[in-house]
This record gives sequence, C-alpha cells and structure tokens, in this order.
Amino acid sequence: MANFSIERCTIDYSEAISRNNGRAFWEQPMWRMNWPVDMTRDYLVGVMEKRGFMRLLQDRESYRHQMAVDLDTRAVLGYIRWQLPESALGGGGGGGSGTDVPPWPEAQVPDVSPEELEKYRSLRDTTPWTPRTDMDELDDVNDAILKRIMAERPYIKLDYLAVAPENWGKGIATALVKSGIEAAEKLGLSIFVFAFKEATGVYRRLGFVERERSIQDDTKFGGNGQYNVYFMVYEFRRPA
Ligand SMILES: CC(C)(COP(=O)(O)OP(=O)(O)OC[C@H]1O[C@@H](n2cnc3c(N)ncnc32)[C@H](O)[C@@H]1OP(=O)(O)O)[C@@H](O)C(=O)NCCC(=O)NCCS
Repeated sequence: MANFSIERCTIDYSEAISRNNGRAFWEQPMWRMNWPVDMTRDYLVGVMEKRGFMRLLQDRESYRHQMAVDLDTRAVLGYIRWQLPESALGGGGGGGSGTDVPPWPEAQVPDVSPEELEKYRSLRDTTPWTPRTDMDELDDVNDAILKRIMAERPYIKLDYLAVAPENWGKGIATALVKSGIEAAEKLGLSIFVFAFKEATGVYRRLGFVERERSIQDDTKFGGNGQYNVYFMVYEFRRPA
C-alpha cells in the first residue's frame, strides 16, 4: 500500500504534476486520439511541463488543485483539479463564506510574484498546444450536455483527475476524489464530473450517480467506435 498524503499543489511540484498528468492521459484512448498520430508521449509531456506552471496559477480564485505525494520520496503520485462555482466565490450564499478567506483555502495554489507570473505566462504562450481540431463535432455534443447540467445549480466541477500508470490500483484516485467530496460537503455544494469510462468505478463507489451518458462513434476519426462520456454528479444533501 502506498504511503501518501493529499496536499495542495505548489508551483515547485508543477513539472512533476505535469509528468504525472501527461503519462496518465497518454493511456486514455479518447484523450490520446486528440493528438496527431506522429506525436510522441515524451514530446507531449515536455510541452505539458512548460505550460503546467500557468495551469496551476491561472484563475486562482476559482480553481483548486491537489496532489497525492509519496511520504517517503515526495514523488507526485496523482493529481486532481476542481473548479468552484461563481456563487461560492466572494461571499453571498451558495457556499460562499462571506469573508476575505477564500473558500477551501487548503487547496488553493500559493501565489507567486508578478515577475514569476509573467515568466510562466510567457512560457505557456510560447509553447504551442496543438491538438487536432477536426473532431470538434464530437466534443460539441458533449459540451452542450455539460453546459446544460452545470446550469441546473451551482456545482463544484471535478475538472481533471490523473494517476500515472505505475501507480494505478493503489487507491490514489479514490483518496483524491474523497478529499474533494469532504470539501464540497463543508461548502454545502454538489459536484459534477465529465467522466471517462475508466474512472466511473471510482466515482460510483464514492457516491456519484450517472445523470447522462453520451455514446458516439469515432471510427471516422480513427477511434475504436467508443467515444463515450459519462456525466455524473455527487449530490450534496443538507442534513435533516
Ligand atoms: C482512472 C484513474 C484516475 C484511476 O486511478 P487509480 O489511482 O488507479 O484509481 P484507484 O486505485 O483509486 O481505483 C482503482 C479502480 O479504478 C479502476 N481503474 C483504474 N485505472 C483503470 C483503467 N485504466 N481502466 C479500467 N479501470 C481502471 C480499477 O480497476 C479499480 O476499480 P475496482 O476497484 O473496481 O477494480 C487512472 O487510471 C488514470 O489517471 N487514468 C487516465 C486518465 C483518466 O482517465 N482520468 C479520469 C478522467 S475522468
């Protein structure tokens, strides 16, 4: 059993997080087919390493980032990203605290100086991100469903979850998701996730239910015919 803890991400871990993420998603068929066939995993991981700093720092107000860290080696074993709904930011109901303390501060990435921020912004902007664009028709269908469900009420969005393959099956994703559920319960908010099939077992076991699924044939784009997405929610229930 891995000996790890769930911690907020800091910029010092950015490259290790990006390596974890790139290597995890490379194993995810639907994600991988978004890239030109001649792109290698290591090239893409290198791109993600450069752009990852800014991903951790952008929209600090609404994004929360957590990582699973090996307590012996300090290696990054997994990563999760959440986005708080507008209603939870800056006070007023819907989970907002109404104070100057940001909601769920334990998962907010510490800020950097304006000079550092500019350096990371420039690194992102000069490192091209070039996924295929010819599959937009598939993603448009999924985006429409996502937007419709997300508009129903303020949800925390589980925005990204990745565990590199050598660490699969050790309960790391489960621990990361659980930690966000605990935060959501404290904020009185439900959670939405746009899930790939491989992760649905983790979500279901933790109490998420499937609201809708989208099954599309992607063979004309080189896929295996299963461009499948599961729209799942964890419902916050106010204690009676
Ligand atoms: C899905 C993922 C996050 C699971 O991470 P993990 O740390 O191995 O998950 P846990 O150990 O907490 O839970 C393991 C469960 O997930 C299942 N699982 C994990 N990876 C899987 C995979 N690639 N394919 C099928 N099932 C998988 C295991 O079978 C196990 O389920 P079980 O207990 O019912 O047997 C990880 O495989 C990953 O990062 N995949 C690539 C990126 C991705 O798909 N992210 C999810 C986006 S919604």
